[in-house]
Amino acid sequence: MKQETSAPGKIILLGEHAVVYGMPAIAVPISTLRAGAAISAKDVPLTILSADFAANSDALPNPLESMRTLALDYLQIHHPRGEIIIRSDIPIARGLGSGAAVSAALGRAIAILLGKDIPDDALNRLVFEVEKIHHGTPSGIDNTVVVYEKPIYFVKNQAIETLEIKQPLHILTADSGQASLTREAVAHVRQLYQRNPAQIRTILENIRQAAEQARICIRNGDHVRLGELMTENHQQLQGLNVSSPQLDRLVDAALAAGALGAKLSGGGLGGNMIALVKKSRLNAVKDALIKSGAASPVHTAVE
Ligand code: MEV
Repeated sequence: MKQETSAPGKIILLGEHAVVYGMPAIAVPISTLRAGAAISAKDVPLTILSADFAANSDALPNPLESMRTLALDYLQIHHPRGEIIIRSDIPIARGLGSGAAVSAALGRAIAILLGKDIPDDALNRLVFEVEKIHHGTPSGIDNTVVVYEKPIYFVKNQAIETLEIKQPLHILTADSGQASLTREAVAHVRQLYQRNPAQIRTILENIRQAAEQARICIRNGDHVRLGELMTENHQQLQGLNVSSPQLDRLVDAALAAGALGAKLSGGGLGGNMIALVKKSRLNAVKDALIKSGAASPVHTAVE
């Protein structure tokens, strides 16, 4: 029996929030940051242990319990036995897809523990169900990028399009130090939309155009234009009121140090920002981010 399953974190290169309203968005996995589920075939009623997630979840039902119920229903198993221990190096509530990754790793572990299989398409649907229970009205982008672990161009309710990356993308991810609760950020944009529909529709349309252009830039390896589009996307997200002074400070610092583009990533109101950086500028941008208060920027090469 395989002893551990896992799933990666994620970052959104462009299009968060707009994707909830049917616009396209681009997301990539961060394969170096992972949630894992260690399996042990103990002869006990199925027990799921997690220091972090039990302690951090005040949601009822707990997301781990939701995934367990959904996976067991899918597999049609009624009296499972064994033990699964969840661990994760993806920071929680930082816009990096920690919840989706934990659910995906747990679903895979339950299947293996019980000698069954949950194919990725089915797992993706189950993780989306958990996301819906715990995160309000998600688009489905987080579960999709995390389950398939591929760069994606995502439009809600459409076939998944994986993206070929012509030239490796070097991305620094930096934490603002503030929590980012996706459910709150999504609700916040919804209220804004209800109050100013025309203005918000214009911003969403601009984001759609940026994401479409970015998809072409990624295919062609045009990282200079891609970076500009990411920075424009940050301004659009500021227009949706989901940035924060600390995120703005980190974005400005990255750009001043020579990043090709920078923006918040994920729900916003805190959480992480990302910077697209030429390999030769990685150290300079990393230092600038640290000087501006980011704890430990993480470098990811997306290939
Ligand atoms: C969260 O990673 C991305 C959002 O667009 C929410 C969603 O798409 O479900 C903010």
